[in-house]
Amino acid sequence: MTTEIIIRSFHPNDRDAVRRISTQTAFLGNPATRFVTDEAVLADALTLYFTDHEPESCFVAVQGTRVCGYLLGAKNAGDMEKTMRNRIIPGLLGKILRRGLLLKKINLQFLWQIAASGCRGEFFAPDFTHTYPALFHINIDESCRRQHIGTALIDAYKGILRKESVCGVHCGTMSDPAKQFFEKNGFRVLFSGKRSYLRYRVGYAVPYYVMGALL
Ligand SMILES: CC(C)(COP(=O)(O)OP(=O)(O)OC[C@H]1O[C@@H](n2cnc3c(N)ncnc32)[C@H](O)[C@@H]1OP(=O)(O)O)[C@@H](O)C(=O)NCCC(=O)NCCS
Repeated sequence: MTTEIIIRSFHPNDRDAVRRISTQTAFLGNPATRFVTDEAVLADALTLYFTDHEPESCFVAVQGTRVCGYLLGAKNAGDMEKTMRNRIIPGLLGKILRRGLLLKKINLQFLWQIAASGCRGEFFAPDFTHTYPALFHINIDESCRRQHIGTALIDAYKGILRKESVCGVHCGTMSDPAKQFFEKNGFRVLFSGKRSYLRYRVGYAVPYYVMGALL
């Protein structure tokens, strides 16, 4: 018998599960350990803003007692960027130095590739925050995909955004299957580019899409 999957608001007790899923799905839906050695630092970079600064915009999917997916939202991407810049990134840099991450080849290789992508202008994307102010990240455990959990999480998030009269929402993805998923859920491509910083591991420059939906 399969246990029913429930979508509910994020609770602080879900924090560890959300962090686990974030690192296990970090790179094109696959685990992060091929790219970075410290999952705690990566989980901070991916989830700390949402779980600790705006938990009211986050949802989880739960099967029995197990969290099997999440949507981490920010109603105002501009405010989120300020908190990232002023509070989260300085703490992260300290942690990176204290934990000796820069002494490990695997991390240096990854940072080098990121820097090279940056120099090629691959991180440029137009600013969509005026028309699509909200943003989110969504990830589902591999074993639970294609069961309409992602769709239910997006519906729940759109619901609270509409209640608060937010006019639009956007997200970034480096995955063609995820692009199809977002299109199925009412999003359209606002911008597309390429990112080559994963090429040294996956063998090709991955696409990058900014997807947006008006509410
Ligand atoms: C992308 C993701 C969030 C989709 O969630 P999901 O619960 O698996 O998706 P749903 O079951 O709600 O899919 C709804 C529809 O989207 C489309 N879709 C979903 N996954 C798809 C895929 N891999 N390829 C093509 N279309 C897909 C299908 O039309 C699907 O409907 P159907 O199953 O009836 O054909 C999830 O697969 C995931 O976490 N992937 C890995 C990480 C990732 O890519 N995150 C998003 C980018 S930031």
